[in-house]
Amino acid sequence: MQFDKIVDLHCHILPGIDDGSPDMETSLKLAEKAVADGVTHVLATPHHLDNKYVNHREDVIKATEIFQQELDSSAIPLMVFPGQEVHINGDLPQQYADLLGADADKHYIMLELPHSNVPVYSKRMIFELQKLGVTPIIVHPERNKEIQSNLDILYEFAQKGVLTQITATSYVGGFGDKVADISKKMVENKLVQLVASDAHALKGRDFVLHEALDGIENDFGPDVASEFEKNAENILNGNSVVAKGYQQIKKKKSGFSFSMRGVYCEKTCLFDHGT
Ligand SMILES: [Fe+2]
Repeated sequence: MQFDKIVDLHCHILPGIDDGSPDMETSLKLAEKAVADGVTHVLATPHHLDNKYVNHREDVIKATEIFQQELDSSAIPLMVFPGQEVHINGDLPQQYADLLGADADKHYIMLELPHSNVPVYSKRMIFELQKLGVTPIIVHPERNKEIQSNLDILYEFAQKGVLTQITATSYVGGFGDKVADISKKMVENKLVQLVASDAHALKGRDFVLHEALDGIENDFGPDVASEFEKNAENILNGNSVVAKGYQQIKKKKSGFSFSMRGVYCEKTCLFDHGT
């Protein structure tokens, strides 16, 4: 499938500030790979508040400006925007001013959960962020152990107005068949609205975003693939994107199966505070 543009909302392309690219030379090589994959716009999302990396808002903005200048002088046709992959913690509302959104006005934040579980305070934290006008986008839920064993968690997130982003590498099988199957199931049941590269300068963590979009097109048709791309573009521009048509995964019970279809859920929908 040909795209006029491909927006990548998750990638560790800025040099020397997290476990992504170690230096400018590598960042430029990554950018060339992104362009070769068809990517035209990138949200740089260094890790933030994950107990290892802290990348303050102003530092990321500055690093993005410098990187864009290098891209321009190297004639690499890629536009880069400043963002963060924000690790969930109990103090996010207090740290709100230092956070970067996926869009300039912080309507959306790329939010990372631990790989092992979904913390009990997640619902409360999501609610606190929504009160601040932020729609959280949960990144790579397909790699979270608790979600892997209970996809109803994503259904509940969708009901609360939360968006989710799978990783392109997951969809094309780079993290194994199990993660690829879960990713496909998420797309099939409309439990995810975005796909992004999450590219690092590591073996097996390249840009395969176009390949993933082609895979989605192959599995679910061109409209679904172009909706995924359009969603990324709308989020970068701060336009409205909502979870819709999501379904609970069918469960086998006493020889028959059942499902519940989700209702169209506006970004503003409210939910209980949880724990
Ligand atoms: Fe990431």
